[in-house]
Amino acid sequence: MNAPLHQLARPVLTDRFGRRVDYVRLSVTDRCDLRCSYCMPKGFHGFEEPEHWLTFDEIERLVAAFARLGVGRIRLTGGEPLLRRNLPDLAARLKALPGLHDLSLSTNATQLAKHAKALHQAGVDRLNISLDTLDGACNAHITGRDTFDAVMRGIYAAKEEGFAPIKLNMVAMKGVNDHEIERMAEFAMEHDFILRLIEAMPMGETGRNAQYLDLGPVRERLVERFGLVPEVHELGGGPARYWMTPDGGGRIGFITPISQHFCATCNRVRLAVDGTLYMCLGQEEKFEFRPLLRDGATDAELENAIRLAIELKPERHEFRETPGKIVRFMSQTGG
Ligand code: GTP
Ligand code: 5AD
Ligand code: SF4
Repeated sequence: MNAPLHQLARPVLTDRFGRRVDYVRLSVTDRCDLRCSYCMPKGFHGFEEPEHWLTFDEIERLVAAFARLGVGRIRLTGGEPLLRRNLPDLAARLKALPGLHDLSLSTNATQLAKHAKALHQAGVDRLNISLDTLDGACNAHITGRDTFDAVMRGIYAAKEEGFAPIKLNMVAMKGVNDHEIERMAEFAMEHDFILRLIEAMPMGETGRNAQYLDLGPVRERLVERFGLVPEVHELGGGPARYWMTPDGGGRIGFITPISQHFCATCNRVRLAVDGTLYMCLGQEEKFEFRPLLRDGATDAELENAIRLAIELKPERHEFRETPGKIVRFMSQTGG
């Protein structure tokens, strides 16, 4: 089979373990309007100073360097990325970079209704939306704010705007929302969304305190209930494993960093808002790009720095062995 056009004659960025890195998760802010129980603690104020935020010019320059080295996928994340002013302008600038073929956004959707059109026009290809429950009270309990109606408006606005696929991210937690999994699956199928169930990761004390649920038995339950069969097609660039209904009409993804980790196929690095490149969600290896960008590094120097940084990428996380290791919250690294 021929390689897709965008992969022909492309440079390749490879780490020490032979993994191809072609996906950058780009956190455009560490702030968020919610305080999901598994993510950011209530009363948290340790945010980056605005003068440390990479500017759109700096982000574009760095992403262009990644793209020249073979990165084709960018995901805009946060915190909540829609809190960064003029995000659609940044999206349009990144979309125009040669080599990028997949521009996506992960959002909590509280502000999505008003931004969906501009994001689509800017060239954002796909959306992943956090939705842990269909119950307003449970949503307020998990997120710390009563924004359920705004979130649902955002989700429907995105559908109306024609984004496809739309994936719903549900962090499944024992005794909190696990009784809603079947209902969420039915809701997603009814609207042509893809439900993704996620195991809580011990990022910071919030992540560690989340009511972890092993998704293995849940998958068996759903396979039985919906007659699911494994999906063979790739549905994005991330770690989810997908199953589908026999008629192909419904899909459910499972993200199982704890019960079945997927580090051997990891293809990504994470750029935080202050220009720190984190090599792994669950490890400390990192490389600071802000000083280079602000001290007049040339494009060639940036590319060299990226290659050096990728050398630091560790083999795997150790969430199971040393769950207390990562003290930064998910919102600080960028989902
Ligand atoms: P797609 O390109 O649509 O596949 O996106 P994605 O699933 O990679 O992105 P999203 O922001 O929706 O992330 C969903 C969940 O997967 C979040 O909980 C992420 O933290 C988690 N996740 C994404 N990438 C990694 C990874 O490399 N390692 C681990 N452990 N978790 C990840
Ligand atoms: N474990 C797993 N997923 C998490 N997210 C945030 N914190 C955690 C955690 N501790 C998810 C959100 C969002 C995605 C970008 O990351 O639910 O959908
Ligand atoms: Fe905000 Fe996302 Fe963290 Fe929830 S998971 S607090 S929406 S950054």
